[in-house]
Amino acid sequence: MCSTAVLLVRTCVVLVCLAALARAPAKVHAAAGTGDGLLAIPTNASLSHCPSRCGDVQISYPFGIGPGCFRQGFELSCDRTTPSPRLFFVSGNSSIQVTSLYVRNSVVWVSAVGFNVTMSAGVDTYTKSWEAPTATGVCFYPDYNNLYTVGCGVYVYVFGDNMTDIIGSCTSICTDNREIMESANTGSGACEGLGCCSIPIRGGQGFTLKLGRLNSTIPQFGEALSNVKIIFSQNYDFVTDDVYASWVVNTSNVHAMLLNIAITDQPSCASAQSQENKDTYACSSESICYDYLPPSVSQRGYTCFCPGQIEGNPYIEDGCIAYYNPEAPNRNCMRLCGNISVPFPFGIQEGCYANDNLRLDCTSNDTLILDRGYAQYRVTNLSLDDGLLMVTNMLNDTSSNNVGRIIITSNNDKYQEVMDGNYDFSQEDVAIKWVISNITCQKAMQNNATYACVSDNSICKDVMRGNIRDGYRCKCSDGFQGNPYLHNNCTEFKNGFHSGATSP
Ligand SMILES: *[C@@H]1O[C@H](CO)[C@@H](O)[C@H](O)[C@H]1NC(C)=O
Ligand SMILES: *[C@@H]1O[C@H](CO)[C@@H](O)[C@H](O)[C@H]1NC(C)=O
Ligand SMILES: *[C@@H]1O[C@H](CO)[C@@H](O)[C@H](O)[C@H]1NC(C)=O
Ligand SMILES: *[C@@H]1O[C@H](CO)[C@@H](O)[C@H](O)[C@H]1NC(C)=O
Ligand SMILES: *[C@@H]1O[C@H](CO)[C@@H](O)[C@H](O)[C@H]1NC(C)=O
Ligand SMILES: *[C@@H]1O[C@H](CO)[C@@H](O)[C@H](O)[C@H]1NC(C)=O
Ligand SMILES: *[C@@H]1O[C@H](CO)[C@@H](O)[C@H](O)[C@H]1NC(C)=O
Ligand SMILES: *[C@@H]1O[C@H](CO)[C@@H](O)[C@H](O)[C@H]1NC(C)=O
Ligand SMILES: *[C@@H]1O[C@H](CO)[C@@H](O)[C@H](O)[C@H]1NC(C)=O
Ligand SMILES: *[C@@H]1O[C@H](CO)[C@@H](O)[C@H](O)[C@H]1NC(C)=O
Ligand SMILES: *[C@@H]1O[C@H](CO)[C@@H](O)[C@H](O)[C@H]1NC(C)=O
Ligand SMILES: *[C@@H]1O[C@H](CO)[C@@H](O)[C@H](O)[C@H]1NC(C)=O
Repeated sequence: MCSTAVLLVRTCVVLVCLAALARAPAKVHAAAGTGDGLLAIPTNASLSHCPSRCGDVQISYPFGIGPGCFRQGFELSCDRTTPSPRLFFVSGNSSIQVTSLYVRNSVVWVSAVGFNVTMSAGVDTYTKSWEAPTATGVCFYPDYNNLYTVGCGVYVYVFGDNMTDIIGSCTSICTDNREIMESANTGSGACEGLGCCSIPIRGGQGFTLKLGRLNSTIPQFGEALSNVKIIFSQNYDFVTDDVYASWVVNTSNVHAMLLNIAITDQPSCASAQSQENKDTYACSSESICYDYLPPSVSQRGYTCFCPGQIEGNPYIEDGCIAYYNPEAPNRNCMRLCGNISVPFPFGIQEGCYANDNLRLDCTSNDTLILDRGYAQYRVTNLSLDDGLLMVTNMLNDTSSNNVGRIIITSNNDKYQEVMDGNYDFSQEDVAIKWVISNITCQKAMQNNATYACVSDNSICKDVMRGNIRDGYRCKCSDGFQGNPYLHNNCTEFKNGFHSGATSP
């Protein structure tokens, strides 16, 4: 039998009876809402009738409210009956409040789940199961969430697919000396078995917990013994007072839960892209597919990302946008570092570069640095004309041989694309070929708001490395010179002489 659970933090939890656990894992109950949702990739225009927000939360596809607005398994509902509207998942019997959606990074924040278990006399174990809110859509973000148990003289086991697929266990005991409890739970030692214990939850769509009483010889005491609190969240700052109180004393100590967007109607990119399934493949033609691989075989799936530094929505046709702000230079920007000039689209201060690829740092001793996190380079020359950055003196480098790497980190830094460069670091100076973004000129020109070649008499140039396309950059047309990334800056020159500021 299911034991009664009290739901907390304005969230509901699916509590499945033990008998119901025999279900085939991971296949969804039909959505209780307006229908089954889309399976083909929509265009931005086809979603224009869809609500774009609920309260403070911005909604974007594959999530959506109402017919034609969500992918199957990603339906949401907006509860407007309260002064500040609240967003919920719609799926089977579960509803968990969504606090923010970052489709671009494939993550969703939802409010934590918590409930009391009363260990009544004569009952030794309690079993509960959890499912992520939408069985075809979101999964627990691997290794980001924890199951916290606050109580005395209890053990907890967490299982995945079945009762032999164990994820972890922990025990919590107490002493009757509250001061000892408090001093043991200060700082980083909190929640390590004295009044509280935690189990990291791997990825996947569901788990079952089993809670029981320890046969402890340590003296236990009345109230605290019978009242166990369970919290499922990314983080919880345990304080000893919570052992003795009827619920977490300061609910600000309970942080949200992190979920991962994963399309689980197919187990991998390869099967989703196969001929027979391609009609339901969720990633737009320009986006990249990554396998979602939690340990449990029944819960696999895939996730879509826009490539490289490109932003936008990988689940919408033409949704990936190469971010570039051609208007950024209109500010008071530092354009010199030491004796090296830093022309737009490069820049040093926030708001002075056109995108993050083109950001440089100027140190207090006037050294110009290209900092890519995994390595730093000292820039010795920067040329807009040949599209080269000359770098030297790598301040640090992970590569062991002479082949350097430029790593493009997408916003979700779990996923990195490695751009293997033909850079020869054995030489004093190394040329790094830079691009505005990894798209073709043809594609770049389709979006005026993010197109870099804004000067009159400028042209777009596809940058190739052998057969591999690295992206595009701009040039002044033949017979013109200047900065093609600035309005009206390419000016005519004849026989090596400028015609000055006059445009033809
Ligand atoms: C747990 O139980 C106490 C009292 O029994 C109650 O005040 C509290 O709200 C409950 N907490 C949750 C999360 O249901
Ligand atoms: C998509 O459409 C919305 C309006 O429905 C618009 O605000 C947004 O800029 C469009 N996005 C793209 C990438 O065109
Ligand atoms: C929801 O829960 C009720 C009772 O708890 C059950 O009868 C019903 O089948 C459940 N519905 C779904 C879709 O799981
Ligand atoms: C239980 O789950 C584990 C891990 O997913 C799997 O290896 C095992 O075969 C499953 N056992 C049963 C009986 O389904
Ligand atoms: C606790 O003790 C009881 C009776 O001695 C025994 O049946 C039970 O298995 C023990 N439980 C644990 C977790 O050791
Ligand atoms: C609750 O905790 C937060 C931070 O975790 C703190 O800022 C706040 O002051 C606490 N509130 C009370 C009433 O202690
Ligand atoms: C900058 O100054 C250094 C010496 O301080 C010199 O070696 C270098 O050539 C100069 N670079 C440019 C672009 O003028
Ligand atoms: C300037 O600072 C960088 C690091 O901040 C250091 O590596 C370099 O040696 C310094 N150069 C000079 C000339 O002091
Ligand atoms: C390179 O240096 C930066 C800044 O000093 C540092 O954050 C980074 O971890 C270093 N990378 C490696 C691989 O050592
Ligand atoms: C982009 O701008 C050019 C010139 O300003 C204009 O002719 C063209 O129609 C615009 N294209 C789009 C897609 O807005
Ligand atoms: C640029 O994009 C193309 C096509 O998406 C890809 O084949 C190529 O590897 C990418 N280049 C880099 C440097 O990311
Ligand atoms: C081009 O831009 C540079 C840098 O802002 C500026 O100094 C120069 O005067 C501009 N040239 C023309 C022709 O506008």
